Amino acid sequence: MTDTILRAGVVGWPVEHSKSPVLHGYWLKRYNIAGTYQAIPLPQDKFETGIRKLAKQGYRGVNITIPHKETMLAMADSVTDRAAMIGAANTVFFHSDGSIGVDNTDGYGFIRNLYQNAPVWDPKAGPALVLGAGGASRAVIAALLEAGAPTIRLANRTRLRAEMLAEHFGARVEVVDWNRASDAMDGAMTIVNTTSLGMQGQPDLHVHFAAAPKAALVTDIVYTPLVTPFLAKAAEQGLETVDGLGMLLHQAVPGFEIWFGTTPEVDEGLRKAVLA
Ligand code: ATR
Repeated sequence: MTDTILRAGVVGWPVEHSKSPVLHGYWLKRYNIAGTYQAIPLPQDKFETGIRKLAKQGYRGVNITIPHKETMLAMADSVTDRAAMIGAANTVFFHSDGSIGVDNTDGYGFIRNLYQNAPVWDPKAGPALVLGAGGASRAVIAALLEAGAPTIRLANRTRLRAEMLAEHFGARVEVVDWNRASDAMDGAMTIVNTTSLGMQGQPDLHVHFAAAPKAALVTDIVYTPLVTPFLAKAAEQGLETVDGLGMLLHQAVPGFEIWFGTTPEVDEGLRKAVLA
């Protein structure tokens, strides 16, 4: 039984909103690959059996989205260091021996986006300020630490969550009070919003950039709208900004590369396709 069509997809609940099918579909077409990439809805109680079924059906692998990222990590046979550090999996590989490997490429996507769109940005240049302490924040912190940020100032509305992350990541992460987030921009060379504030339908993130160094880079993981009020305010102050869409695009690269055997490019055409 030989299946010449390479198959992958994204598993979530709900999953209809996922941009991944458009993204991978664009690359499959562009590189003329005989493959498919589908949205696969699986509720929590059917998740584990559903995943094992996909492996048996010959899928090369899948992306995992809300709410399954932690469950997927727990059921894997092998886990990359970065996925273990983040505590969640977003990319799955079904190996030919029947084992399941997982990775987390969110932090990788975050960093690649900044390197691509802010070529002079240097994570080592000074402390970073990270706003938010949810799942996305874990990936951003892990990636910034790995990229060499000397320290990370972490502010979250619920301080306890920030303290738990600081404990997890160690001494280079220090908690600052949510109400002092604007002051904590003093000396911060990388400033990141990982909260859901500023997303369409959500309240704005109320900070000001007066204390930020002139050479600071400001980025947001929210990409609907593309220019969040947070990014607009930073740009008004003359600071360099990078929007969050590139993180989504870049996090998809490692999975595509292994499932379909081609290293895909993140370019303007892909951005346009995903925004359309
Ligand atoms: P994700 O996995 O996308 O990071 P999450 O785990 O739900 O999602 O985290 C959402 C983040 O946005 C958290 O940092 C949350 O702060 P709390 O830990 O205090 O909940 C932050 N957030 C959401 N709504 C917020 C609001 N109205 N004000 C301040 N922070 C908010």
